[in-house]
Amino acid sequence: MKMKILRSAVAWAFVAMVILTATVIQPADSYYWDTLFPFERVMDELALKRGQVVADIGCQEGFLTFDLAHRVGPNSIVYAVDIDPAVLAVVTTESERMQLRQIRVIHSDPKDPMLPAGELDVAIIANAYHEMRFPAEMLSATRRALRQRGQLAIIERDAEDGHPRDNYYELHKVPKPVVVREARKAGFTYIREVRPVRQGDFYFLIFKNL
Ligand SMILES: C[S@@+](CC[C@H](N)C(=O)[O-])C[C@H]1O[C@@H](n2cnc3c(N)ncnc32)[C@H](O)[C@@H]1O
Repeated sequence: MKMKILRSAVAWAFVAMVILTATVIQPADSYYWDTLFPFERVMDELALKRGQVVADIGCQEGFLTFDLAHRVGPNSIVYAVDIDPAVLAVVTTESERMQLRQIRVIHSDPKDPMLPAGELDVAIIANAYHEMRFPAEMLSATRRALRQRGQLAIIERDAEDGHPRDNYYELHKVPKPVVVREARKAGFTYIREVRPVRQGDFYFLIFKNL
């Protein structure tokens, strides 16, 4: 009887562990990568090359970071930036496991990605802009981190325009015109929109620091 209870406890512990691992490691809401903007397509549209310096701002557990690191190669830098130390711990562990020494983790400030000035070729903010409490400060600081002609990519879920700005934080989405307005105000030049692979509620905008 005792053996049966023990076996059952072990089985339940295993199930709990599998569920926990899936919850921690899997992105909660990242269907947009697979169905709308596959990593390769995002990197191709940005013409990302070996040796380029890139930042994944709001990287979470690094869903995009590792692919970026493979694309730019070992003699480059991928800054993995987030305000949440718990997700960055996952990025650090995974980078070490995969020996991707080009990944540099930055535990940033909500107003500042804390990136070195004028170094980046590309900055990507994917499904994270809506979470930023200080979007104007974040965009200005990101622009300072870019080289001249460096690109900013924003991938975000679309929303209806015209709500008070703070509402978009609660809604977890930001209208395209709001992003374009705010990026222009921070000094970026709007270049173009990349169409998703199929119809969806996320958009992908490219700006430049001209
Ligand atoms: C939904 S996740 C995005 C995940 C990832 N970029 C992707 O698309 O797979 C949003 C992330 O943005 C981070 N974040 C929120 N505000 C931020 C800020 N001001 N600077 C940097 N990261 C921020 C959160 O901690 C969270 O990890």
